[in-house]
Amino acid sequence: MPAATLSRKNTRKNNRKSTRAKTATPARAAKASPASAPTVPAWHVAPDKTRAWKRLAALAKRGRAMDLRQAFAKDRSRGARFAVEALGIHLDYSKNLVDGDVVDALLALAKECGVAKHAKAMFAGEAINLTENRAVLHAALRAPKGSVMKVDGENVVPHVHAVLDRMAAFADAVRSGAWRGHTGKKITAVVNIGIGGSDLGPVMAYEALKDFTRRDIACRYVSNIDGEDFYEKTRDLDPETTLFVVSSKTFTTIETMTNAQTARAWTLAKLKNPAAVARHFVAVSTNAEEVAKFGIDTANMFGFWDWVGGRYSMDSAIGLSTMIAVGPAAFHELLAGFRDMDEHFRTAPAKKNLPYHLALVGIWNREFLGFDTVAVLPYCQYLHRFSAYLQQLDMESNGKRVQLDGAACRWQTAPVIWGEPGTNGQHAFYQMIHQGSSPVPCDFLAFAKPLHDVGTPATGMHHDILLANLFAQGEALAFGKTPAEVRAEGTPEWLVPHRTFPGNRPSNTLLCEKLSPRMLGRLIALYEHKVFVQGSIWRVNSFDQWGVELGKVLAKRIIPELSGAKAAKTGHDSSTDALIARYRAWRGR
Ligand code: F6P
Repeated sequence: MPAATLSRKNTRKNNRKSTRAKTATPARAAKASPASAPTVPAWHVAPDKTRAWKRLAALAKRGRAMDLRQAFAKDRSRGARFAVEALGIHLDYSKNLVDGDVVDALLALAKECGVAKHAKAMFAGEAINLTENRAVLHAALRAPKGSVMKVDGENVVPHVHAVLDRMAAFADAVRSGAWRGHTGKKITAVVNIGIGGSDLGPVMAYEALKDFTRRDIACRYVSNIDGEDFYEKTRDLDPETTLFVVSSKTFTTIETMTNAQTARAWTLAKLKNPAAVARHFVAVSTNAEEVAKFGIDTANMFGFWDWVGGRYSMDSAIGLSTMIAVGPAAFHELLAGFRDMDEHFRTAPAKKNLPYHLALVGIWNREFLGFDTVAVLPYCQYLHRFSAYLQQLDMESNGKRVQLDGAACRWQTAPVIWGEPGTNGQHAFYQMIHQGSSPVPCDFLAFAKPLHDVGTPATGMHHDILLANLFAQGEALAFGKTPAEVRAEGTPEWLVPHRTFPGNRPSNTLLCEKLSPRMLGRLIALYEHKVFVQGSIWRVNSFDQWGVELGKVLAKRIIPELSGAKAAKTGHDSSTDALIARYRAWRGR
């Protein structure tokens, strides 16, 4: 028997086994939003009703007038005082406009707002996603085998590990070549089709962990409904050696479903036989029914559960492409990193707790100092998709204007998150960060030990230059350059204002030991829990996303109006109508 047939047979056997495993672990039935408003626990106090909030409001004037040069000169230990270190991550927040009173008041705010109680409820599997009546238990995705985390009285950890084991068997089969394409060839390209949480995490992790990936299997990510994305990502691929992972929690997302249909047509155009779909398509979803309707055998489906939010799912089966890329062992290391941070968040006192500090300084900057955006600036090329990932995590979670009980928020919520890796950003938008009219709090992020220590003392050590730049940026933002210093350099008087740096611009520096799957897991979980703490204090539901619905509904209505043979009476506003007419005219319709 040829090797390919043999291994296909084995994999089929594996799949039969894994289907049994899947059906033995029923996903919890999706719950609907409750008919009447759920009760918000009494300990979920609105922030502006706390004493700490009033104290912070009183301290804000002092914060806005704070001079970081003086603060550092007065307190030689400031850099160490306003820093927390755990799990190989050193967070220095001393270059923010905070003093001891502010930090104490922020910690008191977290306490009065019941953050610890809220976290306890989350880890206990309570339905803290109140508008959708769902538990929020992404922490169970990285719980160790044998541990217990319950949703509705059922321990979900065995289900998580059953899926992880199936993923590992599948990833190993693809990596070893045991899983073959329809014509018996080895898979050399894995294309994840997904969007939002079913794309951003996997892409970010693939890029971040590229050094840990095999180079004989390329991973690509198709997300955009723009056909150019599919076209570009597949133009040099061969259907015979390409595996599509269709990733969608709901399996109804128009972008993903359209791309998946196109991928199927692309595959069958060469392979001709519909039976090829079973060898070239697997699905990751919570929705077995839709997966089957699409034509993917549910034996080739990797499930997860409605208690995993899309933007919190990269460590679930949504990470299948990551696992294929780095291998099951490294994927488990990634999970261990998440778990390290979960434990730290759950057990470390707030005073020494990384997510608390990152979150609280963010609230201070957002609410009390009035800064609208945060730039996340990794000085690490491998993390070049990290800010894009954080945009969804942060803004889809906390970009809300009503509280859990539907009352309007009387405070600011999520800032705009943006950023690019350093040093590239320095040559693009840092001008604005240093001298623009609106200060931008920055999270600088770097690893002390490079994965590749490129360069020599003679040619220049890349990593030392990189890190020197990072440290310099924080210094320049905090301390600026006074007019007197500019003048002292002999600058003509008319040029002095142009060359002055105001300083007192806040930044955090996250210096980590070394990038690894485990460290990446820690960092992602750090930001997940930061978002949790902020959402908890802002009293919003960080786990729904109603704000994405309206546009989706309107688009569905407009699609036939664009493609129909005859222009329909659309009845939109005059602007939308004119745009549709112009589009049709330019498309010759
Ligand atoms: O439209 C927003 C959203 O629902 C995100 O929350 C989610 O990550 C993304 O779409 C993709 O959803 P799905 O995984 O169900 O395709």
